[in-house]
Amino acid sequence: MRRISPVLQQDGVEPDLIALLKTILAACREIAFRVSQGELAGVLGSTLGENIQGETQKKLDVIANELLKEVILETGVVKAISSEEEDTIVAGNPKGKYLVTFDPLDGSSNTDINSLIGTIFSILPADPAKEADDASLFLQPGTAQVAAGYVLYGPSTMLALTTGHGTRLYTLDNTYGGFLLTEDQAAIPKYTTEFAINMSNQRFWQEPMQHYIADLLLGKTGTRGKNFNMRWIAAMVGDVHRVLCRGGIFAYPTDTKDPQKPDKLRLMYEANPMSFLVEQAGGVSSTGYQRIMEIIPIDIHQRVAVILGSKHEVETCIGYHKA
Ligand code: AHG
Ligand code: MN
Ligand code: MN
Repeated sequence: MRRISPVLQQDGVEPDLIALLKTILAACREIAFRVSQGELAGVLGSTLGENIQGETQKKLDVIANELLKEVILETGVVKAISSEEEDTIVAGNPKGKYLVTFDPLDGSSNTDINSLIGTIFSILPADPAKEADDASLFLQPGTAQVAAGYVLYGPSTMLALTTGHGTRLYTLDNTYGGFLLTEDQAAIPKYTTEFAINMSNQRFWQEPMQHYIADLLLGKTGTRGKNFNMRWIAAMVGDVHRVLCRGGIFAYPTDTKDPQKPDKLRLMYEANPMSFLVEQAGGVSSTGYQRIMEIIPIDIHQRVAVILGSKHEVETCIGYHKA
């Protein structure tokens, strides 16, 4: 089985970017180890603090954020980072070529139940003309990403990575200490009978999503003419991983549950990197009205509606938004 560097070299990825990715993965290996130790390492439970988005921080959110921040800034090739757990961007080397955005720990509520969690990251080019503490550096659409990936801390620790040459899956080999290529070309099936959505929000959705899900639930007896199954992991990394492995549609639509927060998922830390991975595996990712990767961000912490996965199913869902 192949290691990461030769695969990326074969794809013509710049040595500095390869080194940066390997540094991020080294931090993720450390996070994976601490996650595996669980209560023994005293990493479970909440802190007394909240992040900028008013969410309670878990101890692991903070530990993962600190680990990633430190090693990424030490590389010298990163001009600034932006994290879900940081109020503002953090400046690095003014001459750095890259920007890194990350969700240090996705699915943090799952830490309490020993269930799936992960780290999501995205790498953007840095504008040499801007200062390292200028947040507008990050206001680039997802199409500008040079790499994106996630590390899933599951029964095995897995990496999904794209640099724009397809989406590859790797598995952490603890005997060797690195990630080995286990799926050279993830390919999301075009058709699916599996959907993932938090059904408890149903009454708060807008009309297009109400109608789309209602038709899925009618199954064989409705216009879709086939039965659908449902899954919800409450960690986007887990749900997107399933979609990459066997297809499906994953949606976190706009809702009116909390008028201050009509969308849940974050564009920079979750939606864009996952959209890059999904598109590179032949899937589609949209808000229902627009391709996610074409959104021009106006704020580093902005949130967005997400519908992604199997091409035919996501396009069908988008169709309900046009009606
Ligand atoms: P995070 O743990 O980084 O805050 O993200 C959790 C996100 C996402 O991973 C998941 O799909 C969604 O929140 C789950 O939301 P519900 O709790 O509303 O199901
Ligand atoms: Mn998250
Ligand atoms: Mn998070």
